[in-house]
Amino acid sequence: MNKIILSFLLSLLATNCIYADSASDANSEIKNAMKLKPNLEAGKKTYELCAACHYNNGWGKEDGSFPVIASQHKSVIIKQLADIRARNRENPTMFPFSGDDILGGPQGIEDVAGYIAALPANPKPGTGDGKQLELGKKLYFEKCVACHGQKGEGDAKNFFPRIQGQHYAYLLRQLQWIRDGRRKNANPTMLALIKDLDDKTLAIIADYISHITVDVISTEKEEKEEK
Ligand code: HEC
Ligand code: HEC
Repeated sequence: MNKIILSFLLSLLATNCIYADSASDANSEIKNAMKLKPNLEAGKKTYELCAACHYNNGWGKEDGSFPVIASQHKSVIIKQLADIRARNRENPTMFPFSGDDILGGPQGIEDVAGYIAALPANPKPGTGDGKQLELGKKLYFEKCVACHGQKGEGDAKNFFPRIQGQHYAYLLRQLQWIRDGRRKNANPTMLALIKDLDDKTLAIIADYISHITVDVISTEKEEKEEK
């Protein structure tokens, strides 16, 4: 069995997060897509529609309405797409673009995810005011580093998103939504860690993350190492 799938299954067991039917639909779709190889030309074609919101470069919008998706781990993109279409992650704006008519099945998802993962990262995402970076760093290293890594690079094998190079406003909104239970597919361990943090504290952490400088972590390279 593919190592990625194996570790995903193990992480599901570990976090005991097989909840709803929508989650299991998404899980089988993720497994099916992960077995395939991306066709980047086909992915590029599909991406023309996505670019309406995420832009051609995949760098989203500084006000956080549309996230940076360029250079996200392919596994994470696949999981988010599968979750959005299974309504395991509420995203009414994007939902109409997540159907079979646009994405196709597992191969279509693999193609567009492969294309996005290979786009260069955003070197200058929107940042916060930078006033409490030391405190932000301390909190990040206490609570977040175990999963999101020393530089916010995430972990493709475990479906932990890369959060470095993401807009401050989007980071803060996701943290609030996860804390407030508005993001169904949230990681339960992460939720437990942030459930008592107020908006001010979340903003300090998001600000720190938005200031982590981008060194080019190639998701392509990481994925080769996994095999
Ligand atoms: C109409 C606008 C719109 C279009 C078109 C769109 N998206 Fe999105 N997308 C969004 C919004 C808004 C979010 C963030 C939702 C939230 O805040 O939870 C998002 C989130 C995502 C995420 C999750 C990012 C993360 O960091 O978790 C991925 C992956 C994604 N989109 C991929 C795509 C792909 C692939 C397409 C094309 C097939 C696409 N999007 C088309 C609006 C759009
Ligand atoms: C136990 C591992 C774990 C810990 C610890 C953790 N996270 Fe996460 N985080 C995740 C996973 C897994 C996801 C993606 C969940 C999903 O949608 O599948 C995520 C999602 C996120 C997102 C949304 C990313 C996106 O692109 O939409 C942000 C922002 C984030 N985490 C920040 C943090 C911060 C800040 C901390 C520390 C306060 C933290 N996380 C602690 C595992 C973790």
